[in-house]
Amino acid sequence: MIIKKNLLSEGKTKKIYATNNPLEILIHHKDNITALNGLKKNVLQDKGVLNNEITTLIFQFLNSCGVKTHFIRKINNREQLCYKVDMIPLEFVVRNIVAGSMSKRLGVKEGTYLYNPIFEIFYKNDKLKDPLINDHHAVFLKIISYEELNTIYDMTSKINCFIKKYFSDKNIILVDFKIEFGKNHKKEILLSDEISPDTCRLWDKETMKKMDKDSFRIGLQEKIFDIYMEVLKRLNVS
Ligand code: TMP
Repeated sequence: MIIKKNLLSEGKTKKIYATNNPLEILIHHKDNITALNGLKKNVLQDKGVLNNEITTLIFQFLNSCGVKTHFIRKINNREQLCYKVDMIPLEFVVRNIVAGSMSKRLGVKEGTYLYNPIFEIFYKNDKLKDPLINDHHAVFLKIISYEELNTIYDMTSKINCFIKKYFSDKNIILVDFKIEFGKNHKKEILLSDEISPDTCRLWDKETMKKMDKDSFRIGLQEKIFDIYMEVLKRLNVS
């Protein structure tokens, strides 16, 4: 039996609890939604329930594809049991279509198709506002080794292929997404954190309508629950 123990950490949208098994943790999804590095925030009732369900479906799918992830199983409507990892303080962004910060930074039109996906690394550091860095910066900062980066790029490339097709089969275009990795007690690299409409850009294949947190960024907070629910409904159709 799993016993929920002390709170280990609390972020903008999740709480992490210890369990009676030192190798496992409980992740609790809150109803908070934030954007622009926490400058824009709100509470949307039951958004945590939707994100817990959506990220569960995606991680179950990736586990079934042979990707090594932290996900063990969903425990209840807000919580999932995961392997405990030491998080690597990097965000790996994969872009299949130009949007968001890449569009602004390079002056390239949103919606431009990328024949080869582009990978970016952001250094998770609130004081520095999560700057865009490259492999050499990450190794210089002693966050990661080149060998570990190779492993992560290999995993990231496979994850992109798997979930791009997974979403496409549900009539959703995976424009871009952010993922994070951690290391377990054996120093193995596991895909960790979450994959949800909070961490992906998802566009409807027919209408190109935004089905993700960009709707919140552009002020449509009252529509978020319905939009995330639509994503969940589509993922649930086999
Ligand atoms: P960006 O275009 O703002 O750099 O975002 C790229 C993708 O990464 C997009 O799907 C949103 C996601 N993302 C996060 O999940 N968390 C973040 O803190 C940032 C900056 C982006």
